[in-house]
Amino acid sequence: MKPIYIRRASQVVGAPKDTGAPLTKSAMNELNVIENGSVWIEDGKIKRVAHDDQLMKEFGSRVDEAEVIDARGKLVTPGLVDPHTHLVHAGTRENEFDMRLNGKTYMDIMNAGGGIHATTKATRGASEEELYEASFERLNQFLLHGVTTVEAKSGYGMNLEVEMRQLQVARQLNEHHPVDLVSTFMGAHVVPPEYKEDKDAFVDLVINEMLPEVAQSGLAEFNDVFCERGVFTPEQTKRILEAGKEYGLYPKIHADEIEPYKGAELAAEVGAVSADHLLRASDEGVRQMADRGVIGVLLPGTAFFLMADSANGRGMIDAGVPVALSTDCNPGSSPTVSLPLIMNLGCLKMGMTPAEVLNAATVNAAHAIRRGNVAGCLQEGRQADVVIHNTPNFMQLQYRYGVNHTDTVIKSGKVVVK
Ligand code: NIG
Ligand code: FE
Repeated sequence: MKPIYIRRASQVVGAPKDTGAPLTKSAMNELNVIENGSVWIEDGKIKRVAHDDQLMKEFGSRVDEAEVIDARGKLVTPGLVDPHTHLVHAGTRENEFDMRLNGKTYMDIMNAGGGIHATTKATRGASEEELYEASFERLNQFLLHGVTTVEAKSGYGMNLEVEMRQLQVARQLNEHHPVDLVSTFMGAHVVPPEYKEDKDAFVDLVINEMLPEVAQSGLAEFNDVFCERGVFTPEQTKRILEAGKEYGLYPKIHADEIEPYKGAELAAEVGAVSADHLLRASDEGVRQMADRGVIGVLLPGTAFFLMADSANGRGMIDAGVPVALSTDCNPGSSPTVSLPLIMNLGCLKMGMTPAEVLNAATVNAAHAIRRGNVAGCLQEGRQADVVIHNTPNFMQLQYRYGVNHTDTVIKSGKVVVK
């Protein structure tokens, strides 16, 4: 493979190197900005990031053997990382979108057998090939938006067989698609209709039958639960997450999304890697998350699409919570792959700065899926996941909002979008 020389970008921007922990407080607002910066990529890795004059002193004699990408007038960042998606699913729910626009709520629709239940039905009815193909296409779309690493949850099977099928598909996608995948088991996404009368029996099933098999298969690293009134109580959530910990699965929580339910507090109590959503998190819960270093994965696209108030991103950063951003890509509450748009919403709906949203969608997002040492920054020696954006500086990435500025994507040292 030829080396790649990204030449003289107007800005090369990103957290300079892994600090071993997600960024908090004022560090979230710091970026390393190299004007007229260049990147030399070789053997799939970032070899050197520096001002072009410096880089040419070191590599000038080898320019002829490299693939040269002229980046004048453009911006270079680390590949974006999406730490929360429901990537592997079948079907769409535009009918529910229309119902919500006519006054029904997300929870009304779910309680009437639609929502997550509708996608579960579609996913249970899909073959492994169909799931693979639909998800592969979504990953292509992610890549076109500059996203090079994606977390993917199961949770539309809610029986062992289909949950495992979703996780198998994610594994195969990880092998065959350029985007890197990180898998999460989410058997406790909702209580399926067959357990409606005895929800605890379903919790027992997740704990006694699903978790051991999933853990044994090695197909998931995280264990996530939808902790919400009418779905799983904090007590049930805690049981499932503690049981997962016994099997080495790291806890995550869909917390305080629709109603305040002490999800943030629970995330701190069980030592979750992240608590996600947090639209209705309490101040006390946020304080406890900051104390325990629980990452707040914020999903302003979901709030936008559900026409709800966004999480208090600004307040969480000021309180010391390491904040990450994600699409929540799923067919019900956020059918988008545009992490760049989510970053725009981070600024416009949650008061985050352009620097904060970039760190939230790179370095902190990588930490939220325990990939802080692999992805999310332009550290020399790392796998070369690099995006060139068609804007001259990182502020314009937010200022010219709603536009996909992605120009070129390099994944593990290969140009995959041009
Ligand atoms: O993150 N809240 C639960 N899960 C998803 C939605 C899944 C769906 O509606 O299909 C979420 O919003
Ligand atoms: Fe979600």
